[in-house]
Amino acid sequence: MNDETLTQPAGLDVQSSGAHLRRYLAVHRAAMRALAGWIITAPRYEDKYVFGYQLWDHARHALALQHRLTELRGGISDASIEPRLETALGELPHGRNTAEFTDGLHLGVVGALQAAYAAHLTVAHPAANAPEIILLNQIVPDLRRHQDWARRRLEGCDAPDPSWREYLLAQLQGAFPLAAPPDAARPLPRPHAQQFRRPATIVTDDRIRRGGLLAFEDRRRLSYTEEVAEQFKVFFNEMYAACILASVLYDAASSAVPLDFLCDVAHHCWDEVRHSEFGAIRLRELGLAPAQLDPILFEEAEGMPFLHRFCHLTLNLEVFFMPRKRPRKEQYEAAGDHSSRLFADIDWSDEINHVRYGKRWTEWFLKDDARSVEDLKQEVESHLMTLASYRHRKARALAPF
Ligand SMILES: [Fe+2]
Ligand SMILES: [Fe+2]
Repeated sequence: MNDETLTQPAGLDVQSSGAHLRRYLAVHRAAMRALAGWIITAPRYEDKYVFGYQLWDHARHALALQHRLTELRGGISDASIEPRLETALGELPHGRNTAEFTDGLHLGVVGALQAAYAAHLTVAHPAANAPEIILLNQIVPDLRRHQDWARRRLEGCDAPDPSWREYLLAQLQGAFPLAAPPDAARPLPRPHAQQFRRPATIVTDDRIRRGGLLAFEDRRRLSYTEEVAEQFKVFFNEMYAACILASVLYDAASSAVPLDFLCDVAHHCWDEVRHSEFGAIRLRELGLAPAQLDPILFEEAEGMPFLHRFCHLTLNLEVFFMPRKRPRKEQYEAAGDHSSRLFADIDWSDEINHVRYGKRWTEWFLKDDARSVEDLKQEVESHLMTLASYRHRKARALAPF
């Protein structure tokens, strides 16, 4: 209770609060999927990094909205939304390039969502609707940051054709009635026929060349300074793991999987984006620039179903690389190399969490399945053995890098 309640509007009842929150949740969930797709597709690694952070923001927002919906009477969070909104949100990834995608998402759809949040906050009752007010006030500054980034990013390139953003906005007409009541205007025609397809490799720009990372054993023969540089090239390469997770999220989000799973995958993806960023930061500190990426582990995994991909990353690859983590942190510690030590320490801790995600979710998905986790790993192995690159490494007992 505060003094302002005497002059506030009537507020929103439980049923209408639930209906609005469900629509907001659908937008955040669609933004997660679209951003995941563009983490793989955007050529500039700096854009991939920003999309990773934004992905995790949207995941946190989606989780918070879902939590509030479960508290509301009749607030079933996965009740279906209006087909028109669903269709409109399905269009989100289909921009023709990073600039058009960014313009459509951040300045189009997120702009409309921000207007809806502003209108919601205007009509919400400060006591009756206090939980929603707190929730939306936590989301709004994050989205403002995304929009500010988008404006800066778009200043640095040829302005995208606004017709894609205008089309998306027209598709959303009426979706947020607090901000703009439905009108009879006809939706705009689609300005182009582009259909987003999740790539089968990691898209990069021409600053990055393929491969060229030294194997673990070869790195150990170098001087300390040379080894650190090579090691942080491998950190930069964790983009492969971020992109496997982005592909899992992109593919899984179109089926009926729990939001909690998508949000753990989003967190994991964001962690791997940060680990790659550790590489870019440390290489720059060493007077170098990221110039190599080996997408082989992404390419070998991307053709498997999303659960096999997730299982392979978390319970094969991350478990395989784990024994390197402690000695590496101790090596940097002994050398008094604070920056390298910090990144190695955080990476090690995150990786323990990732294996935890792997165990939790593979078991969850297999709970009504005749297969065990070991059976799933065997299916992964059967798939990998169809690939020449994997057979070659396996025959020589080689680690990928
Ligand atoms: Fe990592
Ligand atoms: Fe990891």
